[in-house]
Amino acid sequence: MAHLIAPSILAANFADLKTDLSMVEQSAADWHHLDVMDGVFVPNISFGIPVIRAIKENTNKTLDVHLMIVDPDRFIDQFKNAGADILTVHYEACTHLHRTIHAVKEAGMKAGVALNPHTSIDLLKDTISDIDMVVLMSVNPGFGGQKFIENTYEKVRSLKALITKKGAKTLIEIDGGVTDANAAKLVAAGADVLVAGSFVFRSSDPTKTIASLKAVEV
Ligand code: DX5
Ligand code: ZN
Repeated sequence: MAHLIAPSILAANFADLKTDLSMVEQSAADWHHLDVMDGVFVPNISFGIPVIRAIKENTNKTLDVHLMIVDPDRFIDQFKNAGADILTVHYEACTHLHRTIHAVKEAGMKAGVALNPHTSIDLLKDTISDIDMVVLMSVNPGFGGQKFIENTYEKVRSLKALITKKGAKTLIEIDGGVTDANAAKLVAAGADVLVAGSFVFRSSDPTKTIASLKAVEV
């Protein structure tokens, strides 16, 4: 499968979101990556359900919603109703991860599980076949524009080996510090989806930057 690109609108211009959303809609991007932060799980607050609903009404591409919130089970149906297609919860925020994954699927969405940089992929060996996508955090979650953590390559390779060994169909998404300096190496290591926020929105030609990430050859 060719890799997918999911620009993170966290780095967009929130005062003129429609313009940035249209740019992504018309670009080579595959998904919109939407970062929801609660100020508790991560030291930052971003946006929530009403904003996602408004984005849904103005876009056609898949909404990839990344919840950086504690106790995400409380809001599964609300995110579904707002328009989420993929709902990712953090491993570190779920006491009963297996239950949460199945609740997300029963609500009619793909279920993602994100791992912080310190969380081992070994912890997913009993649930990997239930998970539609694993999001490997390549920065500590909470902010855009941080430096990519180099250990991520090794995590991608181990996760890919686990997925292959179990015969699972789980996608691997990389989130944080993705640029043209690491994109090819990440895809070569087994990444299926690349999230990019500041690299896209702070570039002089975001459409071209998205196309260049999409065109990365292994
Ligand atoms: C970080 C978020 C990321 C972020 C990526 O907590 O989950 O999705 O928007 O931004 P960049 O690409 O700037 O690191
Ligand atoms: Zn994210």
